[in-house]
Amino acid sequence: MRILFLGDVVGEPGRRLMEAHLPALRRELALDFVVVNGENAAHGHGITDRIAQQWFDELGVDVITTGNHAFDVKDIGLTFQKEPRLLRPANYPPGTPGGGHVKLHTPGGQEVLVINLMGRVHMPTCDDPFRCVDAILAKERADLVLVDMHAEATSEAQAMGWYLDGRAAAVVGTHTHVPTLDAKVLPGGTAYVTDIGMTGPYLGVIGMKRESSLSRFLKAKGERYEVAEGDCQLHAVLVVTEGKKAVSIERILKTLS
Ligand SMILES: [Fe+2]
Ligand SMILES: [Fe+2]
Repeated sequence: MRILFLGDVVGEPGRRLMEAHLPALRRELALDFVVVNGENAAHGHGITDRIAQQWFDELGVDVITTGNHAFDVKDIGLTFQKEPRLLRPANYPPGTPGGGHVKLHTPGGQEVLVINLMGRVHMPTCDDPFRCVDAILAKERADLVLVDMHAEATSEAQAMGWYLDGRAAAVVGTHTHVPTLDAKVLPGGTAYVTDIGMTGPYLGVIGMKRESSLSRFLKAKGERYEVAEGDCQLHAVLVVTEGKKAVSIERILKTLS
């Protein structure tokens, strides 16, 4: 299978870039499956019901993952409850709306299990992602396991890559919005990258306007975050699998021009 993962799509600039490129990427890369992290799709914070439906219905996205911004948009919990393809981290506490993993059947007859996890280092309080993924894998069987590890600490993302090596076809990092150059297939057959990088404007501070971000470092009370503009880049990884394992992982970079 040929699977495309897009890192955090940030605000209107990120959505526009993704809409501009995804249909062509689907053809050029002969994609079978597309996973997009949408936690910053709505003005940089959270995702709306309308955006999620548009990505599923018009862009053919198979699964949307999220992270610590999953519930930033008011009432979005209802969408998480009704739409199993919209994931929030599986290791949020019991009782959190929605689900953290989903199993889908591809037109080619394969079962794909997508799991969304969140790290605990410099992140909101959540349950242990390592024990959480063990519990999911003990319960669910699938031809292919794909994991979005939404983590701040590079060490925690790498640890999860090794922890799942041979058990997942892909463990890809999201959340930092900064692409890392360490994409590789681990010895057990797991495609890994510490962070895919965001799809959004790179002329700010992790997608936010420089002024609003800087004010938070320079003043007692910072300004409200606003999505940056300029140097919009789409960052993704293409993972190719054979059987239950990955055979390659390749970085994809697109801009508007
Ligand atoms: Fe993010
Ligand atoms: Fe995040």
